[in-house]
Amino acid sequence: SFFLCSAHQNRIGTGTMGSAAFLLAFSLALIAVCSGGSDAPRGVAVGFVFDPNAKCEPACRHAGLCIRNNTCFCAKGYEGETCQHANCFPKCKNGGACLRPGKCRCPPGFGGRYCHKVTCDGGCWNGGECLAVNGAARCVCPSSWTGSKCQHAICPQGCRNGGVCVAPGICSCPDGWLGGACHTAVCSRACMNGGKCISPNKCRCRPPFSGPRCGDRKRIH
Ligand SMILES: *[C@@H]1O[C@H](CO)[C@@H](O)[C@H](O)[C@H]1NC(C)=O
Repeated sequence: SFFLCSAHQNRIGTGTMGSAAFLLAFSLALIAVCSGGSDAPRGVAVGFVFDPNAKCEPACRHAGLCIRNNTCFCAKGYEGETCQHANCFPKCKNGGACLRPGKCRCPPGFGGRYCHKVTCDGGCWNGGECLAVNGAARCVCPSSWTGSKCQHAICPQGCRNGGVCVAPGICSCPDGWLGGACHTAVCSRACMNGGKCISPNKCRCRPPFSGPRCGDRKRIH
């Protein structure tokens, strides 16, 4: 038999706190309907038919009410056949899972109440911006920086002879080398007679000169 006004109050008072609160509202709605002389058919006035003998198998979860055989009426914040799914509003973004009403579990790289914030582990350096790229958090670097955190400067000219790019376009050169790309050898004492410094303290001499600094003239007999 379906629910009638004033019937079965004892049975429906035995739920959890969640369903007790719901049932209070439910009962008040019924009282309003039953005492108001409504023309609505009895038992269906609040929008659904409530069968007090209904059996739900598996049972309704999260304080959901079994209102008809295998039909659960879910408490606020839950949905699904057995009220098994929490729902989150706004929905969890970026692949986050709704753990309980309003609480998202976010995948790596995302945070915030709705997983709407992108978080790059360790941050982005040198003006890099943390953005979602193909569903993953990434640092998007300014043009002169690269690396997962934009930690590596780019030297378009290249750093040669063991030089290290330390800032955009700036090489730090090892001893004995100079120049924008560490391409100029340093000879602490200048090469003479048109000789050329080709590596640190090493001259390449023009004939007929020779010696460490091209200071010797070969004797031609
Ligand atoms: C609900 O299911 C039970 C058996 O589990 C059955 O006896 C009863 O008639 C069903 N009620 C309705 C309204 O179908």
